[in-house]
Amino acid sequence: MKLKLINTVSILNFVLGGLTVGLLATAGCTSASTPAPIAATPAPTASRSPAAVAQSPTPARPQPTSQSAALPKVLVIATGGTIAGVQAAPGTLGPYRAGTKSVNEIVDSVPEVARFATIETEQFSNVASPAIMPSHWIGLAKRINQVFRERPDVAGVVVTHGTDRLEETAFFLYLTVKSDKPVVVVGAQRPATGISPDGPINLLSAVRTAAAPQSRGMGVMVVMDDRILSARENRKLYPRNGGFSTGEMGMLGVVAGGGPEFFFAPVRKHGAQTEFDITNIETLPKVDLTFSYPGGDGYRVGPDTKGLVVSTTGFSPSERDSFTEIRRKGIVLVQAFPSGENVASTLRGGLPPGTGGEGRGPGASGPPAPPAVSVQHLLPAKCRILLMLALTKTQDPKEIQRYFNEY
Ligand code: SIN
Repeated sequence: MKLKLINTVSILNFVLGGLTVGLLATAGCTSASTPAPIAATPAPTASRSPAAVAQSPTPARPQPTSQSAALPKVLVIATGGTIAGVQAAPGTLGPYRAGTKSVNEIVDSVPEVARFATIETEQFSNVASPAIMPSHWIGLAKRINQVFRERPDVAGVVVTHGTDRLEETAFFLYLTVKSDKPVVVVGAQRPATGISPDGPINLLSAVRTAAAPQSRGMGVMVVMDDRILSARENRKLYPRNGGFSTGEMGMLGVVAGGGPEFFFAPVRKHGAQTEFDITNIETLPKVDLTFSYPGGDGYRVGPDTKGLVVSTTGFSPSERDSFTEIRRKGIVLVQAFPSGENVASTLRGGLPPGTGGEGRGPGASGPPAPPAVSVQHLLPAKCRILLMLALTKTQDPKEIQRYFNEY
């Protein structure tokens, strides 16, 4: 097995730009049984600077063998999360810090990966995933595009990531990595030092999937608990093993004893077909996300907001008036079903107010407003990502409806 820590300091500097050292810090603590608070309040830790991450000790590992020379090359890029989590009292149910172990420590804990791939590693960041920002999505997508452009010998990429925000990062990569080569995003729900950690088996399954020729063209995938999930559909249902799901659509296959077995392939645009080009993009347009609810009276957008996603089953009259007014201001409004499971008719998008473009029931009064964008089976948080990217191309709601129909 050949592992190489590639130019970590420059990647971190490139990616994190002006972000504070705090983003690199290992973030809060949690326990294996009640994992959530970690990420909500990532705590800066002065001792973990970019340099400290780059200089983490790299344990000895097996040398390349003649057999490994013939194996596919997989690049493992680590961002942090529970898969890199370390407890104060290892082997207990006690609290841990996400984003602590280095990428090489994580990979070295699973010697079995050497049977399936020659591994290279990069430490992109080492944070709990709520510290992952859109600027990190952009940096990560640029880096993976660069690897696929400049390294034809790399068969696939694995991204290790905290599970809290894994689905958003994976979907951004699904829309912006312009390649048919596999990218597999993987995490763990139990820390690396815990009892029965799931990280090692998840990492092994992710590497096998990234190395497999049958994974080409499947888009960015999430591999958790032996399931291969499309990044378009996957979501974290709960913070326990088995908690990643695609709802009614989007489980592509399983990682079985013999390797990845696919049963379905995504037909929506992704990968090499994507129209979204982030090569020259540093920031994304501001898109807000809000809920409608009984008694709600709509939303007040800030001056920089270019788009708004509303999670709703249907608007109250005052919500309808508020959201129609927002559309009149030229802000693109996307109306998404909270569960993400609804398949809205594409005919509703592009219709004038009162005929369905702004939601169920009679239309709002007043002058016509640009149509709302309807959604076909996508979580509101992912609609926000697609809208951010769509707004880098156009502000025309009809064209944005096309993106929502095709991606
Ligand atoms: C995180 O998202 O970084 C913490 C939770 C996890 O990885 O499961």
